[in-house]
Amino acid sequence: MSIGQFFENRYRQQKNIFGEKPLDLVEKAAELLPPKATVADLGAGEGRNSLFLARQGFSVLALDAAPTAVERLREIAAKEKLPLRAKVADVSQYQFKQEFDLVIAVGLLHFLPQETGHQLVARMKAATKKGGFNVVAALAEQHPFNPKPHVYAQGELKKLYTDWKILAYEEVLGHFHGMAARLGQQPNLPRPRVAKILAQRP
Ligand SMILES: C[S@@+](CC[C@H](N)C(=O)[O-])C[C@H]1O[C@@H](n2cnc3c(N)ncnc32)[C@H](O)[C@@H]1O
Repeated sequence: MSIGQFFENRYRQQKNIFGEKPLDLVEKAAELLPPKATVADLGAGEGRNSLFLARQGFSVLALDAAPTAVERLREIAAKEKLPLRAKVADVSQYQFKQEFDLVIAVGLLHFLPQETGHQLVARMKAATKKGGFNVVAALAEQHPFNPKPHVYAQGELKKLYTDWKILAYEEVLGHFHGMAARLGQQPNLPRPRVAKILAQRP
């Protein structure tokens, strides 16, 4: 089963899997963006980060492989008249057609083989305007019961941005999304390390 199909099944079973609160570094990036900035959200899921940004007037392109998540996002955007386009796409080979002020990939890269993920980051960087930003968050440790194609070794994500200005970088124990709330009800589940970065193109 492809990752997209796996998530499609999950989204059909349950709503708001990752909660509604955006990633902390997405909130930080939003404070730095010019008005009407453009954003690409890769692996947007049900759009907690995309919606947060679109509700501030930023123009968002949200891409995900799971049609149910994309449809939910479209419905909310239409209802609230948000500047958000949501599309079904496999982003692993995504070729950007324009430059953005902010490109984000939250919880996506560990689903891609290492080389594919690194190449995607290179394309994200190339598709970012000068002075613009990237936010990336990925697992830095395997989930014993749910292994991923690639988790980020110590310093690996940071190394991909050595030619950019790194505004925030953390490798922390825990979860980068609202899953933490659900896991709070199951405190014995492991909390793998997560690598998170906010970087600015010089
Ligand atoms: C852990 S979820 C994170 C969702 C969202 N970014 C968030 O932070 O709430 C990972 C998402 O990546 C999507 N995804 C995984 N591989 C993908 C691919 N190759 N192309 C597009 N989306 C993908 C999944 O469908 C899922 O919605």
